[in-house]
Amino acid sequence: MARLGIDFGTTNTVAMMHDRGIFSVVHHAVKTGAGTIVQEVFPSSILIHRSSGRRWYGLEAERRFGQLGPDPDHVFVPSLKRQLRNYAEGRRVQAIVPGADGREETAELPYDLADELTGFLRALAESICQNQRLPAGEPLEAVVTWPANANGAQRHITRRSFRKAGFVVIDTLNEPTASAIELADCLTAGRGGKALGGPQAVAVFDLGGGTFDASVVWIEDDHFEVLAASGIEDLGGDDFDRVLLEMFLSAMGGAIEDLGPLTRYALLRQARAQKEAIASGTVRSLFLNPRDFGLERPPVTIRPAAYADRIRPLLQPAIATLGRVIAQAAGRQPRVAPGPGLTIYLVGGSARLPLVAEMVSAAFPECRVVLTDKPFTSVAMGAAICSTERVGYRDVFARHFGLIRLRDHGRAEMFDTVFSAGTPVPRRGEPPLERVAWYYPRHNIGHLKYLECVGLDDNGMPADGVRSWSDVLFPYDPALPLTAPASREEIVSTDRFADQPVCEIYRCDADGVITVELRRPATGEARTYEIYRD
Ligand SMILES: Nc1ncnc2c1ncn2[C@@H]1O[C@H](COP(=O)(O)OP(=O)(O)OP(=O)(O)O)[C@@H](O)[C@H]1O
Ligand SMILES: [Mg+2]
Repeated sequence: MARLGIDFGTTNTVAMMHDRGIFSVVHHAVKTGAGTIVQEVFPSSILIHRSSGRRWYGLEAERRFGQLGPDPDHVFVPSLKRQLRNYAEGRRVQAIVPGADGREETAELPYDLADELTGFLRALAESICQNQRLPAGEPLEAVVTWPANANGAQRHITRRSFRKAGFVVIDTLNEPTASAIELADCLTAGRGGKALGGPQAVAVFDLGGGTFDASVVWIEDDHFEVLAASGIEDLGGDDFDRVLLEMFLSAMGGAIEDLGPLTRYALLRQARAQKEAIASGTVRSLFLNPRDFGLERPPVTIRPAAYADRIRPLLQPAIATLGRVIAQAAGRQPRVAPGPGLTIYLVGGSARLPLVAEMVSAAFPECRVVLTDKPFTSVAMGAAICSTERVGYRDVFARHFGLIRLRDHGRAEMFDTVFSAGTPVPRRGEPPLERVAWYYPRHNIGHLKYLECVGLDDNGMPADGVRSWSDVLFPYDPALPLTAPASREEIVSTDRFADQPVCEIYRCDADGVITVELRRPATGEARTYEIYRD
């Protein structure tokens, strides 16, 4: 039975098919006036025609949007995964609306993004079935990847949308882990990790269109264990495009805010094409002719070295994150240390920028730095290898997860870590990870505020990359029924229940989804909540 590895990326979604030992990238075809275009990637974009409700996905969405004139009846959502993170964290979901005067700003998406994601994945499934000549609607078994630092909400929504779109999600794994598996497989000619000549560590530096992920993976035979992982959620090729566009505009004498969304999008695409050309090594200057975009200004050029100087500071935090992840991994596995034994694997489309390899090599001179030959398909390939059940792997929490509690009779706050960064996540088939805590109530209703963070300060409080998760309101007062929704306004501080400890059981499953079961032992009642923002 054929199985898929799917990399749902910010810019591009890639599917790799595995069938009886053969791996092949799924191609996607789009008919145009000039003929059929075939691509290995399915761009992660949607175009919606509001009055008819018609939708286009992938390359078709991008092409149609590029050809549209000012038309406020259309809504365009590029970089769907980036918007999914906004959605999962309760922020505005942005879409581009080509206003009647061609100058309208980005606007809030007037549709539910999770539904749109399901539609997008359904279109992906159809394209896969067409390309592989499978009957439409055939259930597609897939291993799906997500960023190492994706939060629970993102994981939950992604997994649910894949299922609703007709995929059978047989497993999920983090993107850099998938790349490490692909590299190990490549180094050992398809024999898993077996022919490596002993255990090895691979640090994956994955710089895509919208996110940066770093992980260190320990490879022993066919077993892959993530020792440490972290990332930057808002760093990728989209940012480098914007920087180049800003440089063009400042040379022309204009500002990005003065452009209408259509012109801005077209100019960004031009900036992206110029940026991608740098990798060929033959580019002397980066070029923009504003007249091609209806702007009455003379052509401008930027020196690649000047551009490199502008993006170097953006890459610095990624290099620092990689250093931290390697140090964390060394803490868990003493045989990991920056040196000839550690391979740094550069993956993701943006790793093709020559500056990336240059900066990584300069920061880790003793390590072997390998630039992937599959910048776009490495993650999907690793996922497809996992779908064969030949390899085993284990992930870790990339961040601390916990909740803020009151102490000193409500006078001070403390962070109670439920699962600390580096804690191994259970493998599929293993029982969930469990942590039990007891709490002596100081209120009639508990307001449990969950959050995750990258680092803690000297007082043990969340300090870096803090993101809140869903809150839970739980009635400690036995007179309040557990089923009725509690409200914040009813919370009063009281010592009446301080002698009736509440038991909190946290569980994390193989997808990294966390639940809490809250028990009132005094009444024998319990309720389970999934912790995410949906
Ligand atoms: N030759 C190149 N030089 C520099 N950047 C490139 C090159 N080719 C592609 N890119 C950039 O790579 C990015 C897309 O990479 P990729 O397909 O790995 O991202 P993704 O998987 O969609 O995103 P993410 O992993 O962040 O979710 C785009 O920003 C694109 O401009
Ligand atoms: Mg990617």
